[in-house]
Amino acid sequence: LAKRGFNLVLISRSLTKLEDVAKKIGEDHKVDIKIVDVDFTGGVEIYDKIKARIEGLDIGVLVNNVGVSYPYPEYFLECYQQDPKFLQNIISVNIHSVTHMCALVLPVMVNRKKGVIINVSSTAAVIPNPLLSVYSGSKAFVDKFSVDLQTEYRSKGITVQCVQPGFVATNMSKIKRTDLMTPSPDTYVAAALNFLGYTTKTAAYLPHIFLQLTLNLMNDVICEPFTTNFVFNQLLTMRKRALRKQQKQ
Ligand SMILES: NC(=O)c1ccc[n+]([C@@H]2O[C@H](COP(=O)([O-])OP(=O)(O)OC[C@H]3O[C@@H](n4cnc5c(N)ncnc54)[C@H](OP(=O)(O)O)[C@@H]3O)[C@@H](O)[C@H]2O)c1
Repeated sequence: LAKRGFNLVLISRSLTKLEDVAKKIGEDHKVDIKIVDVDFTGGVEIYDKIKARIEGLDIGVLVNNVGVSYPYPEYFLECYQQDPKFLQNIISVNIHSVTHMCALVLPVMVNRKKGVIINVSSTAAVIPNPLLSVYSGSKAFVDKFSVDLQTEYRSKGITVQCVQPGFVATNMSKIKRTDLMTPSPDTYVAAALNFLGYTTKTAAYLPHIFLQLTLNLMNDVICEPFTTNFVFNQLLTMRKRALRKQQKQ
């Protein structure tokens, strides 16, 4: 967005990381950058801080990117027993942030009859994803919310886009090396922006689109239990590997 000349408000929880990113973007692009440090696991009070910091800004694009997932695939009850706050945190960060940020920013967009909201969901929302059930459920919320929000506000000049990435090489995926199935964030974002205004929800990056098509085709043609078990076994293997690694530490 900075490359395209947009001024930015960056919102995240670590002030030093925000300062570093703002400095780096500022060195490369002549745009105004504000930063707001809030922890989205917090309650409604954090939105008062955000509201105060964005007051009077003519916000044209909102990107709801913040998200958290599991440290590794795990059974639902194990997650809860290991950390009772886990459920609240993942729902606050992945769901509450998206709805509340839309509520803060939409009035300005509706007034000027123009605006773009990009909500980052996940391929996990639309394929079987056992052992990450709260994460995938939260992303399915983002998917459905986005589509219905688009219908409500299309006639007011608002474009809502929901993107559903597969694996991208970031801290969350813990994948450092990019390959065809795991693009860099830059590659993924470029692909997603190409779809803006053309489709309300999309995996956006071609190999991720094919992944979704293949799994959904397997679901429909071969049968659902086969696809679900196929993914379940893969995630069980990832879980075993993570637990073995944890025991060694
Ligand atoms: N990477 C993937 O493979 C993948 C696949 C599908 C969907 N996604 C989705 O893509 C989005 C971006 O994820 P990513 O892969 O870029 O993850 P990431 O590298 O972990 O980045 C997550 C961002 O969210 C911020 N954040 C996390 N918890 C927060 C909290 N409690 N309060 C405020 N900010 C918080 C982080 O800030 P700090 O730097 O301060 O921690 C960071 O800026 C997420 O919605 C994710 O679900 C990712």
